[in-house]
Amino acid sequence: MNAAIRAVVRMALYLGYEPVGIFRGYEGLIAGEVQPLTASDVSGILQRGGTILRSGRSAAFRTPEGRKKAYQTLQTHHIQRLIVIGGDGTARGAQTFLEEYPDLQILGLPGTIDNDLYGTDLTIGFDTAVNIAVEAIDRLRDTAAAMGRLFLVEVMGRDAGFIALHTAVASGAEAVLIPETPTDFDAIVRVLERGWQRQKTSSIIVVAEGDEAGGVLNVARQLESRFPHYEIRTVVLGHIQRGGAPTATDRILATQLGAAAVQYLHEGASGAMLGLVQGQITLTPFSKATKSHAPPHPFLLRLVEILSL
Ligand code: F6P
Repeated sequence: MNAAIRAVVRMALYLGYEPVGIFRGYEGLIAGEVQPLTASDVSGILQRGGTILRSGRSAAFRTPEGRKKAYQTLQTHHIQRLIVIGGDGTARGAQTFLEEYPDLQILGLPGTIDNDLYGTDLTIGFDTAVNIAVEAIDRLRDTAAAMGRLFLVEVMGRDAGFIALHTAVASGAEAVLIPETPTDFDAIVRVLERGWQRQKTSSIIVVAEGDEAGGVLNVARQLESRFPHYEIRTVVLGHIQRGGAPTATDRILATQLGAAAVQYLHEGASGAMLGLVQGQITLTPFSKATKSHAPPHPFLLRLVEILSL
């Protein structure tokens, strides 16, 4: 997100605007937490995780009274154009805000590690989250192989399995459990048996937190009785995936989209989320961006099973 903030501020200055930062998301907009941002305010943040503007979930912004206060903040500071960064909730909020106050101009940047927004091939943060999970699994493999264990690794993804699937492919996991597909324990046991027969020394299963099997502890309970050959260990990566220096891919994505959002606002665009689709910057209306996301790639899903031979 910092890379996006830097690009927005510097592009805005380049085009002759006076950019301001709103702290703590919609909550800060309601509370009037607005500060001008200069080129030096965004120095040295490209390589930093998190967001200098901080973030937060806002219950108040879901009410008409909250949105009225937010609008008043914008009026007080003479702000006409707004760029919001976030996931599904952020885009929904922006859409409702615009419906009530159509004189505003709002564009969105897709910021979520889950990669579950329609209208972009990648969301800001996804690549970093996947790389962190892959690095963690590379480390776990050492113990798994040395001790002959099965590791169940839970990654984030409340409603979407993109992080889990991409992590599984990149780390050569034996299986992956994601919310978009039904979990078949018989099939998992068959894969584990196949590995056991050919004297595999270790196995890794990646579990998305939102899978209907209910987290790594439940999956461990299911597998313990059915596959007693390996000792099982569970690891929940949790918020570790949401911190640390962003990858170059994320920095470039955030920089391109941030700068392009300013340019589009300058040209009069509003009511849409920016995305990168097959290398092209695109605009998708908030209503479409929030409604759905494409399912994880079926070929990748199939490959996890085939290549775990
Ligand atoms: O929506 C993004 C996400 O990272 C989900 O994958 C995860 O379930 C959730 O955020 C965690 O949210 P919180 O930080 O509020 O626990």
